[in-house]
Amino acid sequence: MPPSRPFYITTPIYYVNDRPHIGHCYTTVVADVAARFQRLIRGVGGPPLRGGERAAGTEPSRSDGLPGVFFLTGTDEHADKVVTSAASHGMSPQAWADHNAEEFRKAFAFIGSSHDDFIRTTEPRHKERVTRYVRALMDAGQIYKGDYTGWYDPGQEEYLTETAAREAGYKSAISGRPLVKRTEPCYFFRLSEYQVRLLEHIEGNPAFIQPDARRQEVLGRLRPPAVLNNVPVSRPVTDDPATQWGIRIPGDPAHRLYVWIDALFNYLTAVDTDERRALWPCTVHLIGKDILWFHAVIWPALLMALRACPGYEWVGLPGTVFGHGWWISEGQKMSKSLGNFIDLEKLRAYAGRYGAGALRWYLATQGPLAGNDADFSHAKFVEVYNADLANGIGNSTSRVGNMIEKYFEGRLPAHSPGQDANGRGLRMFPDGGGHRMMDHAGESADTLSATDRIRFDFANNAVALRGGVNLVQFVDQYINVTQPFKVAKQPESSSRDWLATILSDCVESLRVASLLFYPAMPEKMAELWRRWNCNHLRDPDDANSGFVAPLAELAEWGGAYSLRPGTPIRKGDPLFMRADPVEPPP
Ligand code: MSP
Repeated sequence: MPPSRPFYITTPIYYVNDRPHIGHCYTTVVADVAARFQRLIRGVGGPPLRGGERAAGTEPSRSDGLPGVFFLTGTDEHADKVVTSAASHGMSPQAWADHNAEEFRKAFAFIGSSHDDFIRTTEPRHKERVTRYVRALMDAGQIYKGDYTGWYDPGQEEYLTETAAREAGYKSAISGRPLVKRTEPCYFFRLSEYQVRLLEHIEGNPAFIQPDARRQEVLGRLRPPAVLNNVPVSRPVTDDPATQWGIRIPGDPAHRLYVWIDALFNYLTAVDTDERRALWPCTVHLIGKDILWFHAVIWPALLMALRACPGYEWVGLPGTVFGHGWWISEGQKMSKSLGNFIDLEKLRAYAGRYGAGALRWYLATQGPLAGNDADFSHAKFVEVYNADLANGIGNSTSRVGNMIEKYFEGRLPAHSPGQDANGRGLRMFPDGGGHRMMDHAGESADTLSATDRIRFDFANNAVALRGGVNLVQFVDQYINVTQPFKVAKQPESSSRDWLATILSDCVESLRVASLLFYPAMPEKMAELWRRWNCNHLRDPDDANSGFVAPLAELAEWGGAYSLRPGTPIRKGDPLFMRADPVEPPP
């Protein structure tokens, strides 16, 4: 049975002071792969078409009318740095935000993101709901007016505690520029009241902050003797137009909401409608490790506070906050001065030469998901591309397609009962084990469906993608051992049956492998499915149209979705051309 709780995943909302780069594209791709795996596991439809209308046949499949999977991304627009950067481009903050939000949308379309919604914090739906939340928190005394004196990092728009400022030598840890001492009337959130409850929640729910190193980091800052102070949540509004960008504190227009509080609420405002409210609580917030504190401490505390306000009893805590590591480039931190920045042009160049699917594959399989930073290196890209894609799924599918075209006029031959490698005394596995190919094929799909039904885990996605690669390697090994090109030359009719069996086994294994590859490379796999006439998608011409059945049924060996004998198999061009390792980077 597919899981009954909807799966709701978010990315951070991105600042619109500048254009998207690898960091933004990475988080969105990983979230997209996870969302696509969940749609596949549950056999549900894809995202709405642009403009908010669903593609035909992709209606929510649950009886309660909720989409089974909901994937949210968007832009964070009320930051002071948006005002500064707008001014340097001679534009109003709104016009500059509009421009860059569009850049993000285009980047995410190019990278193949299948988000269900794209939220912008300057949208009325967001601003209205945030104003309501803040008013409720003020009425409950959880947000109150006071005075703030502290060390401010203008670049980060962040106050540092006295200790943190001292430790940093009163300089920004990020920009190196001096911190500024400031006193101002200010609204505060009573974060201090939540220290014990947060500790209890984090200690009692090991899955709440992941990976574990991140969890320990937060626990270290929450456990006594650490003290959690109330936090400022407003900024003053003056005559200076630069201070007028942001959501006003309800009833006190001389103050605007601090951009981080405004931004965190996006996860809730996007689903705070009659149709979507049951999507809350969110399953997983995927973020970078640099913004962990906001998501793992401030955000749950805000939610606990809101939940105590009348009318907000439904506001529970998210299941998981997952903080991934960072990309570096060719072994060094990315910087404009080193010229090693992986910006959008660079990503487009890679997609142009190797295909968007290959770029997604590299990001999804080689990225800094579990902890350590990952290096974007051209040599590594080519190595992975050739090994997993060109010499892997690409070569294997074209080899098998070729043989079916050559020996069976391009139609899938029938599997003959009693014909299998073990029966012929061929040792398929180096360990001499007696597994059959179908066991191998079913394993990855089963593991994924079963474990993610219990608890979502990014590691399962990685295992499933690897499972696809292993399955392809197994097919190659099977071909090397059974030597169908030699069997084809043998005149006996039993050899013809054996050849048919080998090739139909290969097709079935590669079909299952392709399902496991799909979340990372939806367009490429949809292309393969068109050539082979696999009916996995509601609309074969639309990789986003949703699946006709849950993964457990689709991936069943010889099941309802395996190909019938006689099905036309077109070989087509290789899905991935081999890359020349000595060719310079694009
Ligand atoms: N607007 C805030 C998030 C608000 S969420 C309520 C923000 N925006 S951001 O545009 O600066 O960064 C968004 C994400 O990009 C962060 O998760 C950050 O970790 C990620 N990355 C930025 N550079 C990165 C790399 N070099 N590598 C991987 N991810 C990085 O923070």
